Amino acid sequence: MPRPLSDRIRAARAATVEQLTESIVLTVTLDSKLFHFNVAFASDISKDEREIVWRLLNGNMRDMSKNSSLGWLPIKKKKELFHSQSRFIIVRDDAADIVAFTMFRFDVEDDGDVLYCYEVQVAGESRGFGLGKQLMDFLASIGKKWRMECLMLTVLKVNKGAIRFYKSYGLQVDEYSPDDPDCDYEILSLPFSETDSGS
Ligand SMILES: CC(C)(COP(=O)(O)OP(=O)(O)OC[C@H]1O[C@@H](n2cnc3c(N)ncnc32)[C@H](O)[C@@H]1OP(=O)(O)O)[C@@H](O)C(=O)NCCC(=O)NCCS
Repeated sequence: MPRPLSDRIRAARAATVEQLTESIVLTVTLDSKLFHFNVAFASDISKDEREIVWRLLNGNMRDMSKNSSLGWLPIKKKKELFHSQSRFIIVRDDAADIVAFTMFRFDVEDDGDVLYCYEVQVAGESRGFGLGKQLMDFLASIGKKWRMECLMLTVLKVNKGAIRFYKSYGLQVDEYSPDDPDCDYEILSLPFSETDSGS
């Protein structure tokens, strides 16, 4: 039987958009370009914006995932993406176009409370400005504030660029990542030190 949810995961899941927003900065200049960030629950995202978010994810990930053990099942993926526990940070450029997003949840993995990053997606023309790193900074800040043990995510081994990006951020192969060399994905994590919690 699964163990009861901890107080901290309950608190994190109950956090409002306003509370989560306290851990991010709303406007950031990167390489002289202005970007706007906002936290949203799936239910806050309009139908048209969901379509844009989906197209960004589908365009970035479909081909790579289709050929992997994880597969690419659009209906299932959309359900996962816009699940009621999904939390988003959406990035818009100065023309208010969505150019990147991250989707995360407060999950229990191997008995630990984690901020699980399901997606970090940056549109092709907006890569290399630091948006991915900025989103990781905000995820780390939210994870620490809500006293999660670590930032965790799954990445396909074939996605070498993303692996370099995550490792340059400090994520490492998690102890629970499958150690089967034939497995085509790995689980990476970045522990939050206890002393950082609540910052
Ligand atoms: C991976 C991804 C999120 C990186 O976003 P980004 O905004 O381009 O990355 P940043 O500009 O913030 O780069 C941050 C650092 O990572 C490095 N980096 C980013 N992409 C890299 C790549 N493909 N290969 C090697 N290093 C990379 C940058 O050089 C930079 O290093 P620095 O801090 O030493 O200068 C983006 O390329 C993307 O959306 N890819 C497609 C979707 C994807 O694969 N998502 C991950 C799914 S698990």
